Amino acid sequence: MPSDTLTIVDNRTGREYSLPIVDGAIRATDLNKISAAEGDGGLLSYDPAYLNTSSCRSAITYIDGDVGILRYRGYPIEQVAEQASFLETAYLLLEGELPDAAQLETWEEDIRFHTYVHTNVTKFLEGFRYDAHPMGMLLGAVGALSTFYPDAKDISDPENRYLQRVRLIAKIPTIAAFAFRHSRGLPYIFPRNDLSYIGNFVNMTFEIGGRHEPNPVLQRALEILLILHADHEQNCSTSAVRSVGSSHVDPFSAVSAGIAALYGPLHGGANEAVLKMLDEIGDVKNVPSYIEGVKSGKGRLMGFGHRVYKSYDPRAKLIKTVADEVFEQTGLNPKLEIALELERIALEDDYFVSRRLYPNVDFYSGLIYQAMGYPTDYFTVLFALGRLPGWIAQWEEMLNDKEQKISRPRQTYVGHGERDYVPMSGR
Ligand code: CMC
Repeated sequence: MPSDTLTIVDNRTGREYSLPIVDGAIRATDLNKISAAEGDGGLLSYDPAYLNTSSCRSAITYIDGDVGILRYRGYPIEQVAEQASFLETAYLLLEGELPDAAQLETWEEDIRFHTYVHTNVTKFLEGFRYDAHPMGMLLGAVGALSTFYPDAKDISDPENRYLQRVRLIAKIPTIAAFAFRHSRGLPYIFPRNDLSYIGNFVNMTFEIGGRHEPNPVLQRALEILLILHADHEQNCSTSAVRSVGSSHVDPFSAVSAGIAALYGPLHGGANEAVLKMLDEIGDVKNVPSYIEGVKSGKGRLMGFGHRVYKSYDPRAKLIKTVADEVFEQTGLNPKLEIALELERIALEDDYFVSRRLYPNVDFYSGLIYQAMGYPTDYFTVLFALGRLPGWIAQWEEMLNDKEQKISRPRQTYVGHGERDYVPMSGR
């Protein structure tokens, strides 16, 4: 018997099965041959929310949640965040290797060339109510892009996929900036291709009357935050992109599914929820009673806990350093004091320690975005800008993976057996 196998005895039948173990996993489809009675369909693995199911083989991002390691294509997040630009990081995630100088120049030039959106996109955005949530606007507008680029449906052609990837990375910041202006009743500012990727985005959001004084420290801080969000393997939104993309829909539609997933408060919406929580706490003196409330089941400590990290989220560590640099420029965010006290108490409290709940990426990012001048409901949009290269890289990897098919989980049916329809008069 080879050692890298799993022996299973089915006590219902006494039969023994040997399943191969590859890269620390058995194949769920191998369980299929374990059957107790003819026609029972074979054994299924039941795993709500995929707590212990590997859905793909991926070479993009490595996480070791027990010790807080995150790497993009093998490079430690600390080194990438410190040394790379956002577009360089995107190239790394998408192409698998760091670009050389010429490759980076071509990549940046391609993106720059596509930053404008069709004028009708602005009309589409104008149709939203004045107080529309910018994530709802982003989600709708990115989905709508598929109607502007019907050629994107040809997902089997790598050159075509490259063009759509460039369009997505170039145009989503423009749409995101328009959504920002919309909520403030300000005219849309069109892309300036003499600026950097980040510089152009910041200009499109904050320019007033043809003027905006760029602050290089704040722009680099924003760039680092986007890099820290650029990919995080099979999280909820990435799984949504893969799952929807597995139907072979165009990438604009698949990415809009990712934006929808990110919108939720348990995922990207958590940074917004953290700020609401800090507002609700209001003062450092209220922190202990708030923590007691969480422990007794009144809500969660937003920005704490993670499905994968069971130690300090390495991104949260880096964000704390960025926060210091930003607050030096903008002055201290008064809510920082409350956040630091929450973290201090929670990290000493047995409730959080025993459940291995630590600050995650969203705990401090909202404070930084707020100090930069972005409103609370815009934070998740910034997360989406960061996560975009990861979504596209994972979509591309899924399409090129010969083992992948349309995503279609099984279920364990627990409803009624067959029964006769009851006419209205008999109910
Ligand atoms: N505050 C208080 N208790 C918590 C928290 C929290 N933030 N997170 C988990 N717990 C408790 C939970 O009640 C449970 O306790 P018990 O075993 O007594 O029932 C235990 O910890 C395990 O929780 P879980 O819900 O089984 O964990 P999960 O892996 O399903 O959830 C999570 C992960 C991120 C959804 C969750 O920790 C959470 O809701 N955190 C707050 C929201 C948040 O900050 N989300 C951002 C995640 S990071 C950015 C991203 O990737 O989107």
